Amino acid sequence: MNSEFLKQIPLFSELNDRDLEKIIQVATKQRYHKDNIILIEEEVGSTMFIILSGRVKISRISDDGREVILSILSDGDFFGEMSLLDGYTRSANVTAIEEAELLVIRREEFLQMLHDYPQIAVNLLKELAQRIRKSDEHIKSLSLQDATGRVASTLLRIAEDSGVFRKGQVEIAELPLQQDLANMAGTSRETISRVIKTLSDEGYLKKQSGKIIILDYEKFQLRFSK
Ligand code: CMP
Repeated sequence: MNSEFLKQIPLFSELNDRDLEKIIQVATKQRYHKDNIILIEEEVGSTMFIILSGRVKISRISDDGREVILSILSDGDFFGEMSLLDGYTRSANVTAIEEAELLVIRREEFLQMLHDYPQIAVNLLKELAQRIRKSDEHIKSLSLQDATGRVASTLLRIAEDSGVFRKGQVEIAELPLQQDLANMAGTSRETISRVIKTLSDEGYLKKQSGKIIILDYEKFQLRFSK
């Protein structure tokens, strides 16, 4: 791993090569395969992670045993920071949803880093602010919208996180499984299929070999983001 690579990670974007080298020295790399569990809710936390490649899902299990997916994170994102900051146990489960390579930093080094490089702390706070905004949107959509609205807002969330925007359309290439979509939208797999079919019939979406294309992003957003 070199400092050029580390510079592309938003958390470290303002650091110079010398400082990045110091970070490389205290970090280790770990590889996880698809479906490997990385963190378990309520365990004591001693490390935080930065995703070098791959994707992970952040989830919790509801009282009736259903999985609720809070977020899907990918390259350049970090996780595992919460329990290091507040001293409580892990707030959620984290599972690799594809082969993932992670940078691992221990609590002492992470906290020291925040003291030594205030810019890392500011970048971290920016990201946490964005996560609260997303969670607020999510709560709003779960409590105010019907099933169609919830599925549509979930597709918007995925589009914003990992969609490819082109000429007003958004292509969601690696769509999570229908069950994952259901767990993100707080609904069932059957409802997901039904709503995707309705939205396709209404001309909002097109399904194409495992991809979903939002045909007019602006129109879709206007209709479903409120
Ligand atoms: P920690 O509580 O240490 O372990 C679980 C991690 O999941 C947590 O730190 C965060 O990094 C991450 N996490 C928890 N909730 C969310 C969320 N709503 N959005 C994105 N990441 C989250």
